[in-house]
Amino acid sequence: MAADFAGKRVAVLGAGKMGGILLKALLDKGLLSPKATCATVAHEDRARCLTEKLGVPVGTDNLAAVRGADIIFVCVKPQVVQEVMEQIRPNVSPNQLIISVAASVATNQIEKALAGEVPVIRAMPNTPCVLGVGMTAFCKGRFAKPQHAEMASALFSVVGRTVVVDEKHMDAVTGLSASGPAYIYIILESLAEAGVKVGLPRDIATLLAAQTTLGAATVVLETGDHPALLKDAVTTPAGCTIDGIMELEEGKLRVTLIKAVVKAAQRAKELAYS
Ligand SMILES: NC(=O)c1ccc[n+]([C@@H]2O[C@H](COP(=O)([O-])OP(=O)(O)OC[C@H]3O[C@@H](n4cnc5c(N)ncnc54)[C@H](OP(=O)(O)O)[C@@H]3O)[C@@H](O)[C@H]2O)c1
Repeated sequence: MAADFAGKRVAVLGAGKMGGILLKALLDKGLLSPKATCATVAHEDRARCLTEKLGVPVGTDNLAAVRGADIIFVCVKPQVVQEVMEQIRPNVSPNQLIISVAASVATNQIEKALAGEVPVIRAMPNTPCVLGVGMTAFCKGRFAKPQHAEMASALFSVVGRTVVVDEKHMDAVTGLSASGPAYIYIILESLAEAGVKVGLPRDIATLLAAQTTLGAATVVLETGDHPALLKDAVTTPAGCTIDGIMELEEGKLRVTLIKAVVKAAQRAKELAYS
């Protein structure tokens, strides 16, 4: 049975980059009603600015924001989650659902900070959610039931693809798909720069690089074929691509990307404690 959000009251704690993206996307897609949605930030001036921009009440009082909310998104920095959980504890009950997107913070840390058997979903979205092409992996806490996972899936499906993972994989997800857009932007920027180097106007080079990245990713997603096989199909014997690939191998592109994800995943383990 599909999750029904009609009449659901939602509070977004920490409407910064990620909280703001989710809030705006869910409002724009009509999944949330502006009348039943509110948010918080740390600074009064930002709260005023966002209230005007988003058309929902944005304040700085977390405890007031969660009163009567059915779903509470926790989108503050990992280091602030404990403090915010302690603030909202008096107004949180097992009838509400907490969805935390904070890197590094385990579901049991949130459960412990709240009273009673509160259902918690830990999710890791990424910034392309802004255009509905995001990737969100999530896991359930101890007290979350299948209907809570269904709700999270329905919410995050509106802003992209979703996948359920074991909680032990959440830091790896952070290092790969949450940090990943930054890696891809660097690769894209470099390809565009390369286009300029070989004589293309910058706007055309950027278009070629971006559409090629999108096209290759779409083929992997749609066919399910192994990327290595797809790469082989581009690589004509004694052609141009193999010369390009040799440069990539010499520049250690693969190992560099692997090390980038490993480092980011390691950092994700520490964030909540730094
Ligand atoms: N950015 C990403 O790509 C990404 C991806 C996946 C998950 N996440 C997770 O999303 C969370 C937020 O990251 P972000 O990049 O969106 O950071 P951000 O832009 O700095 O947003 C944090 C927001 O929290 C607000 N805030 C700080 N203390 C608060 C408090 N005590 N009560 C209520 N609001 C408070 C800040 O308010 P002010 O605006 O007034 O300072 C800000 O709006 C992190 O836990 C991160 O791990 C981020």
